Amino acid sequence: MSHQSDLIASDITGYLEAHENKSLLRFITCGSVDDGKSTLIGRMLYDSKMIFEDQLESLEADSKRVGTQGENIDFALLVDGLAAEREQGITIDVAYRFFSTDKRKFIVADTPGHIQYTRNMATGASTADLAILLIDARRGVLEQTRRHAFIASSLGIRKLVLAINKMDLQNYEQSVFEDIENEFIEFAEELATGIEIQAIPLSAIEGTNIATRSDKTPWYDGPALLEYLETVPVDDDRLSAPFRLPVQYVNRPNLDFRGFSGQIPSGVVRVGDRVKTLPSAKETTVTRILSGDRDVQEAVSGESITVCFADEVDTSRGDLICAAESPAEVADQFQARIFWMSDDKMLPGRRYLMKIGSKTVTCQVNETKYKIDMSDLQDRPARDLSLNEVGVCTLSLDQSVPFDPYNEIRETGGFILIDRLTNNTIGMGMIDFALRRAGNIHWQSVDVNKQALSAQKNQKPAVLWFTGLSGSGKSTIANALQKRLYSIDRHTTLLDGDNVRHGLNRDLGFTDADRVENIRRVAEVSKLMVESGLFTLVSFISPFRSERRMARNMVEDGEFIEIYVNTPLEVAEQRDVKGLYKKAREGKIKNFTGIDSPYEPPLEPEISIDTTQTTADEAAEQIIDWMKAKGFLEA
Ligand code: ADX
Repeated sequence: MSHQSDLIASDITGYLEAHENKSLLRFITCGSVDDGKSTLIGRMLYDSKMIFEDQLESLEADSKRVGTQGENIDFALLVDGLAAEREQGITIDVAYRFFSTDKRKFIVADTPGHIQYTRNMATGASTADLAILLIDARRGVLEQTRRHAFIASSLGIRKLVLAINKMDLQNYEQSVFEDIENEFIEFAEELATGIEIQAIPLSAIEGTNIATRSDKTPWYDGPALLEYLETVPVDDDRLSAPFRLPVQYVNRPNLDFRGFSGQIPSGVVRVGDRVKTLPSAKETTVTRILSGDRDVQEAVSGESITVCFADEVDTSRGDLICAAESPAEVADQFQARIFWMSDDKMLPGRRYLMKIGSKTVTCQVNETKYKIDMSDLQDRPARDLSLNEVGVCTLSLDQSVPFDPYNEIRETGGFILIDRLTNNTIGMGMIDFALRRAGNIHWQSVDVNKQALSAQKNQKPAVLWFTGLSGSGKSTIANALQKRLYSIDRHTTLLDGDNVRHGLNRDLGFTDADRVENIRRVAEVSKLMVESGLFTLVSFISPFRSERRMARNMVEDGEFIEIYVNTPLEVAEQRDVKGLYKKAREGKIKNFTGIDSPYEPPLEPEISIDTTQTTADEAAEQIIDWMKAKGFLEA
């Protein structure tokens, strides 16, 4: 479901083929910093007497061979997440190590433990069957332990190994082990149901209970760590779940061949199966399955294939091919759990990119319903989400996408959120269910449309969006402009921050989240006004580029005129028309723009007004001239 699974898909395929007849366990290691994770991994790799096949050598091109930090082991294979990140402009850092014993093969997603790397842990967990949760026996269950356990279980991991490490420093006391185990089990009752927990007392440094059970813990009668990993049953839900194939690309080398390629996240497909492609919802029959150049009769989850259909059904990249009898759903509004991974808060109303399956769409969070407190897993009221917080939110997308609820099929129910400017991964989410609302509200189809309304007024409507600091002169200039337009019989309306905040936006304050919502509503209103054929003058600080861009994108190209009322902070503060800067400096007003809340000046405004050189009337004149030059007014 995420970038790096695409990235290393080929590596994994090579590795899996090398150990074809062994079962595979994918796991992740997590826990707090300094809990001994790298020592444990090093020890496991060492004690497992890893078998490395020649085939792995061929992976060298894409990956680097390195030692595990601080360990004298040179055969761990690290897919260099950081290098990949730089290349692809993504910010995820997970190292996948492949190893095997004579009983089973393993892929371990190794992620840094520090709190700001929780996102890496979540990325690694999204494809894992099991999580090893490291605990330092001296420190016990920490917030980070609970957070990781919660994320692992939210991401569908049903097996947790509680690796209680550094037992040597606690004299291998049975009671230390049992206290931690009991505390965790009590906490885990609040996690998703059906979680299996295996607690193991360890010392990674001394090698205790890693490969074989040690006589240092005679009171412990469970398995050693590797023993457990080698024998724990892996119930492969991926095989029993319904067939899905997100279309990565359409393969059409010539007119006689049309195939759809991708990697199967779940289920099995056979030649002759009935399938349905979404969102078109057309049904057809699979006539061929190609694995590489070979024709095969059947393919299962994990394999990369190309399928051909009996009929010409409309299918393109980003579509989802499904088993016809149990297709996925299609919707454009969801309730989802979101795990936020960015230093910048998640703000309702702001637009983000969502990558779900092989599709990328624009989405916005409508509402944060609540967030989940990691200390007790209880719901807490919230409007936004900060770094490492998990919340339940409603989302709307700019188009419908095929999906499955996350708890049914992880790969088609999970998504990542990407910042539109930096391209960074900033959140990940799990779809709970679709909201039906979107489907039931239909736009009234109107005959008296924008064109008719504009023609009636004999004008080409536009949004004139004034942005600038408080006291910069936005409203004064907007008023002067409105008077002039009125005097030449142009039809206008004026939306002003101070006024709108008394009515429509009475419920909003000045936090970042409230400002985003303030502007979102105003942008929606100005769109309606422009559709009524009006020159719509909007005077709001609108401090964030992101929301001004959103307002711009809501109307047609060329209809948005951004007017930067450029007054330096010192000047606005010196004028202090409303006496607010003084209060802000005295700490009586919080989050005041320019003082303790940011203002992001426009980079490419259509019009920029330097109020230190221009009066309000001159500014209005400057705008009128611009409108004449661009054909909004007769010259
Ligand atoms: S915006 O940032 O959300 O666009 P808006 O233009 O609606 O702001 O409102 C700004 C007006 O609210 C200011 O001109 C000022 O009169 C008043 N105000 C009250 N508190 C603040 C504050 N903390 N920051 C900025 N303006 C404030």
